[in-house]
Amino acid sequence: MSKLAPRRRRPVSIAAALLTVLPLAVTGPASAHPATSEASASYPSACPWMDTRKSADQRATLLLKASTLDQKLRWLVEHAANNPAQTVFSGVTYPAQVPCTPTVTYTDGPDGVRGTSGVTAFPAPISQAATWSVRLSEQKGRALAEEAFGKQKNVVLGPGIASGRTPLSGRTPEYLGEDSLLSGELAAAGIRGIQAGGKSGAVLKHYVANEQETDRSASSSNIDERTFRQVYNLPFEIALDKSDPAGVMCSYNQINGVYACENPILDDVLKDDLGYDGYVMSDFYAVHSTGPSLAAGLDQELNRPIYYTPDRIKEALTAGTITTRQIDEAAYRVVRAYIAAGLFDHALPATAAADVSTASHRATARAIAEQGSVLLKNDRGILPLKTGRKTTIAVIGATASNTPDSSGISAVDACSMRFRNTPAMTCTPVAPLESITARAARTGSSVVFDNGDDVAAAAATAAEADVAVVFGWYGMGEFADPASLSLADGGDALISAVAKANKNTVVVLETGSAVTMPWIDEVRAVIEAWYPGEQQGPALARLLWGDTNFTGKLPMSFPKSVADTPTTTPAQYPGVKADGQTIRQVDYTEGLAVGYKWYDQQGIDPLFPFGHGLSYTDYRYDRLTVSKAGRDLSVSFRVRNVGGRTGTEISQVYLTLPSSTGEPGKRLVGFSQSALKPGAAKTITLKIREKSADHPLSYWDVRKDQWRTAAGEYTVSVGSSSRSLPESATIRLN
Ligand code: BGC
Repeated sequence: MSKLAPRRRRPVSIAAALLTVLPLAVTGPASAHPATSEASASYPSACPWMDTRKSADQRATLLLKASTLDQKLRWLVEHAANNPAQTVFSGVTYPAQVPCTPTVTYTDGPDGVRGTSGVTAFPAPISQAATWSVRLSEQKGRALAEEAFGKQKNVVLGPGIASGRTPLSGRTPEYLGEDSLLSGELAAAGIRGIQAGGKSGAVLKHYVANEQETDRSASSSNIDERTFRQVYNLPFEIALDKSDPAGVMCSYNQINGVYACENPILDDVLKDDLGYDGYVMSDFYAVHSTGPSLAAGLDQELNRPIYYTPDRIKEALTAGTITTRQIDEAAYRVVRAYIAAGLFDHALPATAAADVSTASHRATARAIAEQGSVLLKNDRGILPLKTGRKTTIAVIGATASNTPDSSGISAVDACSMRFRNTPAMTCTPVAPLESITARAARTGSSVVFDNGDDVAAAAATAAEADVAVVFGWYGMGEFADPASLSLADGGDALISAVAKANKNTVVVLETGSAVTMPWIDEVRAVIEAWYPGEQQGPALARLLWGDTNFTGKLPMSFPKSVADTPTTTPAQYPGVKADGQTIRQVDYTEGLAVGYKWYDQQGIDPLFPFGHGLSYTDYRYDRLTVSKAGRDLSVSFRVRNVGGRTGTEISQVYLTLPSSTGEPGKRLVGFSQSALKPGAAKTITLKIREKSADHPLSYWDVRKDQWRTAAGEYTVSVGSSSRSLPESATIRLN
C-alpha cells in the first residue's frame, strides 16, 4: 500500500496567529457573528476576547495569551473544554478556566437531536440524500440546530458522510449515499444550516474511510493513495470547500495501519491540503495515544480525559514527542472555532424546553419524507391510486401501524430510524395506516389492515381487496453490519404471498440501505421510503394518491444480490484477522470501483441504478451542447415535461474521462432540479470547472502527488439516472 504522503506544513492563518501579538484594535475581518455595538461595548474588561468587534482569530489569540498551560489543556478534552466552572473530571484536576468562557454541550447527530423527547424525528439522512436537495438539507440543518439549542445543546455532531463501499455498512442510513459530489454538497448544506443561526457548531464526521461497523475500532482500511484521494477523502474535500464546520471528527478505524485519530493525514491532508481551519475531535474512545495523536493533528479528545490528561501531555512534552506549539495550536483551533461558531456570544438557555419541535420543522420532515421517497417501479401506472366508492385497500405489515405485531415491531420502529440498534430519539409517528385511512375516506374507499403476523391470513385479506399496500423493513444502525440485505420478519414471504393473492400489489420499503427483492417481478409498484421519520404517514398518503409527485432518486446503487457488490472477497469485506492479530485487515483492492462505478466497470446490471427514481410524469432530454473555456466545460441541455402532471426532475450530468486515466467509469459532475408543469421545458446550463473541489475532470496523480487532467476525449452524458442517459457529447481537451 502506498504512503498517503505525510508532509509537514501549516495553514498560514493559524501559524501566523500563533506567532503574532495581535493589535487590540479592529484590524481583521469582523467575527462571523458580530453582535450589536451595545453588546460589544458591554463585555467585561477582564475578558477582551468577548469583544465581538474583533475577529475570531484575534479573540482566540487574546484568550490564549491570558491562559496558563493547564487552562490551555482544558480545551483539548471535551468535558474540560465545555464545562468551564468545573475543575475535576473523572479524577483529573484542572484549574478553573479563564473567565467568560461558555458552557458547550455536544449532541448527536445527523438524523435529529438524539436521546431526548419533544424533538422532530426527521427522516434518516439517506432519505435526505434521496431528495438531492441542497435547500432541504440546509433547512433541516437549521431546524436541527434550533431544536438542539432549545434542548441546551450547541454543537451538533453531524452531518456524517462515507462512500458507500458496501451497502452492508451498518451506518448507511446515517450517511448521504455513495457519490462524493452528492454527499459532499448535501453535507455542506447541512453544516451551513446548522451554523446559520450563528450560535451552534457542526461537526462533520467520521474522517475517514470508516466504511463498516464490523470491528470498526479494530480494523484497518488499507487503501492506495489514488483511491484514498478520489473516493474516501473527496466527499470531505467537497463538503469543506462549501462550508466551514466548527469541528471534524476522526473515525475509529485505522487507515493503512495507523488509527485515524493519530494518523498524519489529519495534519497533512485535512488541515494542510484541504485547508481546514477548525478543530479535529476524536470519536468516542477513538484515541489510542497522547504524543502521536497530538502530533498528528487531533485537537480534542471526546468525552473525559484519558489520553489527553495534563499529566500525559506534559510527559509527552518532556519526552519531546510533542511541542508547546502543537499544544497551542490545538487549543487555538478549538477556541477559535467555538468563537467563530458563535458559542461564546450566545449562552445556552437556563433550562431545556420540553417541546422544541415546531410546525415548520415538521413541515421540513414531511418534505424530506416526500421528496426522499423513491418510486422504484410502477407497472402500467398502478400508482397513483385510483380509488372510488367501492374500492377496498388492504394495508399489510406491522410497520404500517403504531400497534406492534407479536414481535413488537410497529411504525414507531420505522420512525426511530434504526430499529433499536442505537439509542434513538423518541418518536411517535403519524402512522401510514392512519393517513392512508383518512385519505381513502376522501374518495369513499375503505381500508382493511392486517399486521402480517399470519402470512396466510394476510394473503386472504389481500385477496378480498382491490389493491394491497404491503410494508417491508429491516433494521440497521450503529455498532453492527447486517448479515444480509433481506427484509426482516419474513418480509419476502409476506410480500410474495400478498402479491400472489392480489395482482395490484404495491410494496413500501422501510430500509436504511439497499434491499434485495426476490419478489420484484411479482409486484406492480415499489416505493423505497427509507426510515421516514415522524411524518411518514402524511408523506406516503400524499404520494400514493398523487397529491404530490415523486421526485426522489436513489443516492446509492441497489444490487440484485450482495454477491454483485464491489467487495467480493473476505479480504475486502469484512476483512481478515490473521491468527494472533487484533486488527482486522480490510483491503480496499476494488480501488476506485465503488458504487455505480463498480457496476459500470464490471458490466453488472444492478437491480436499480444510482440516480434512478420514477415519477408520475415523463421527461425528455435534448439539445445537449458542450463547450469549453480553457479546461472548464459549459454543459447545456433541455429537459421537458412530456407527461400529464406537474413534477420536479432531478437531471444528472456524468463525465467519462479518457481511457488513459484508468478510471472505472463515468462520474457524477452535476445535478439540477427543475419544477415543470406539463408541456413545460427548461434549459439548464452547468459549469464543470477543472479546479472545483470535486476535481470533475481530474484524477490523482500519485507520482506528482497532485490532481491532474489528462489530454483526450471527455464524454458528457445527461439524463435521469446513471443508467438512463439519452444525451451525450464528446469534447477534446489538450
Ligand atoms: C459515534 C459518533 C457519535 C459519538 C458520540 C460514537 O459511538 O460513532 O458518531 O458522535 O458516539 O455520541
